[in-house]
Amino acid sequence: MELPFAESWKIKMVEPIKKSTREEREQWMKEAHYNLFNLKADQVYIDCLTDSGTGAMSDRQWAAMMMGDESYAGSSSFFRLKEVITRLTGFEYVIPTHQGRAAENVLFSHLVKNGDIVPGNSHFDTTKGHIESRKAFAIDCTVDEAKDTQLEVPFKGNVDVKKLEKVLAENAEKVPFVIVTVTNNTAGGQPVSMQNLREVKAVAEKYGKRVIFDSARFVENAYFIKTREEGYADKSIKEIVKEMYQYADGMTMSAKKDGIVNMGGFIATHHEDWFEGAKRFCIPFEGYLTYGGMNGRDMDALAVGLDENTELDNIETRVKQVQYLAAKLDEYGIPYQRPVGGHAIFVDADRVLTNVPKEEFPAQTLAIELYLEAGVRGCEIGYILADRDPVTRENRFGGLDLLRLCIARRVYTNNHMDVIAAALKNVYDRRNEIKHGVRITWETELMRHFTVHLERIED
Ligand code: F0G
Repeated sequence: MELPFAESWKIKMVEPIKKSTREEREQWMKEAHYNLFNLKADQVYIDCLTDSGTGAMSDRQWAAMMMGDESYAGSSSFFRLKEVITRLTGFEYVIPTHQGRAAENVLFSHLVKNGDIVPGNSHFDTTKGHIESRKAFAIDCTVDEAKDTQLEVPFKGNVDVKKLEKVLAENAEKVPFVIVTVTNNTAGGQPVSMQNLREVKAVAEKYGKRVIFDSARFVENAYFIKTREEGYADKSIKEIVKEMYQYADGMTMSAKKDGIVNMGGFIATHHEDWFEGAKRFCIPFEGYLTYGGMNGRDMDALAVGLDENTELDNIETRVKQVQYLAAKLDEYGIPYQRPVGGHAIFVDADRVLTNVPKEEFPAQTLAIELYLEAGVRGCEIGYILADRDPVTRENRFGGLDLLRLCIARRVYTNNHMDVIAAALKNVYDRRNEIKHGVRITWETELMRHFTVHLERIED
């Protein structure tokens, strides 16, 4: 008999989690104004809100923390981190930051000016925020396939090179760089192929432009290249990562994802002018150049995390767990963005709660139902998150309305995946009885999903 796949680690330390009753959850949800961000973490049984900063560090990472050098300048932890980043990516200039959005803030302060245009593949919210707050424009050039959740194509995160070329041809002088997010979080944790990275670099070069990778989940992306793209099956994850970064001029990184640390980030590049420019903003915004927002011990943990996660055993365990959960949903017929990506399941709420009109926010309603069912906390990536049109102030219903269930790295077992799937199935089985969603009672102008107040609409 063939042995089944199992985790490439065993557990040395555990953290208790608490179940609750449906009555308790009803009460808590009401107190939280039906916004899952307002719940206290101990009111949650299985937390799938995000995979950011929620991973479990290894014994080697904890051991490395004891070696942290907290010197203000010239910390040896920084040089250990820099060595790993340079070895993995080829970039010799490294600036640590306290998280991914801080890396964007520092680098974009140097690069993005009023009226600029930054093309990319579904810019992450903070990336878009750092572009738009500088009165520049983020132009989404993701392939159209990403919009059809049921279409089964291997690299749904790709940049549509024709769309990109059009933006460059029409506005080259306004484009400071092209940004490629690997994997494409907003499109469902969908990967970008090596072929696409190569093409993007070639088109950008044709117009004399540089390319940045928003690299939060670059290892998951490398794993998908290895398992889905011709010619990469026999290459190591580290070899694939090295090749990916040949097609980039620099990277911004949220280390809270594929660095498997709870806080941290960095900028890396091989261009001295970008390094010099970013340095000027690192010092006032983040801190001195050899710590830039991180503790010495955290830089050591990150150095080990990056090295460890770019080994096949570790990343395979991670992606296979997400695929395990997806296979359960397939068994129950629950529709999600296919094929499942690297860090999360994105349930297609519009296809599940067909009786709930879009004005009543189906994905948020599904997130509430799932929490009430079993204490599982997901996150709406849909109409509430899309905010209102800045001019008409109408809700934006043009995109997808998804419930994202993120899987934290090395935190939950497959038994927890079974619970998530069963809870979702129970909600799915009574989907036709769910006729109403929620209405907004209070909201902010931008990024309203974090703080919005909602109430349930009754018959
Ligand atoms: N880029 C991508 C693709 C991200 O997913 C995130 C964060 C960031 C940049 C910003 O990094 O949080 O360290 O400042 N994504 C989290 C999420 C918050 O839940 O998807 P950060």
